[in-house]
Amino acid sequence: MEIITCIKDAKDLSKKFKTGGQKISLVPTMGKLHEGHLNIVRNALKHGKVFVSIYINPMQFGPSEDFNNYPRDIEGDIEKLRRLNVDCVYMPDDTITKNNKTFIIDDFLSDKLCGLYRPGHFQGVLTIVMKLLSIVQPDFAFFGLKDYQQYILIKKMAEDFFMDVKIMPVPTMREECGLAMSSRNFYFNSADKESACNFYKILNNIRLLFKKGETSVENLKHLTIKELIDKNFTVEYVEIMDKELIGRKTTAETGDIILSAVKFSGVRLIDNIFLE
Ligand code: PAF
Repeated sequence: MEIITCIKDAKDLSKKFKTGGQKISLVPTMGKLHEGHLNIVRNALKHGKVFVSIYINPMQFGPSEDFNNYPRDIEGDIEKLRRLNVDCVYMPDDTITKNNKTFIIDDFLSDKLCGLYRPGHFQGVLTIVMKLLSIVQPDFAFFGLKDYQQYILIKKMAEDFFMDVKIMPVPTMREECGLAMSSRNFYFNSADKESACNFYKILNNIRLLFKKGETSVENLKHLTIKELIDKNFTVEYVEIMDKELIGRKTTAETGDIILSAVKFSGVRLIDNIFLE
């Protein structure tokens, strides 16, 4: 397994694989890898040579967010990736963002959902992903569906710029209790983690309510928010939207998605579930 930190080495390795006729997959991460990431990597491994990037991207954290405390475990990450037989761990040094003056800004979702609560976040995400895609030039790039808004934005960016990369979604991996796996779950003590599991349970109850025939978006949202507040979550948003996140709706339909962000015990959590 190659471990690379400089842009030229990453480009050269990618060219070498391509010259050998290999397809390349990229799995961008911010490290502190958990089973959710490893599941994404396993999916990527079915599609040729795999680059996993590890970079805690300062451009996607707001001034009051957890950039300095974001969980890190480089040695553990490298070990996990070695065991999976990944071809390259790319850990860009800071030249990747230093003196950056050009940003990718989306024009349809930046003021919605997480965009409302994390100004500049998606600009930072899209810009780093564009850089990683330009360096590695993968055929496939893999993203987890827990970050659904991020996935939609990256897919749209790849379409809008006619990029030769297929954006591959990977379903969310969950703890046994349903809590979506996330590096931020490491912030919880075990009692808090148990309570945080209610987040998924509540979203799932709403899905069941829809299944039983409740289709009013207002009622479904109202109930979700009430249940979340009852279980001590601070609610940022609950929205029901079509799967491309084009617009808000009054009547929920099969295939729509319920998305939410909450805070629990100081930790921000996001999750989503399809209505079916
Ligand atoms: O989902 C993440 O971990 C990050 O937003 C990403 C895609 C690696 C960009 O920094």
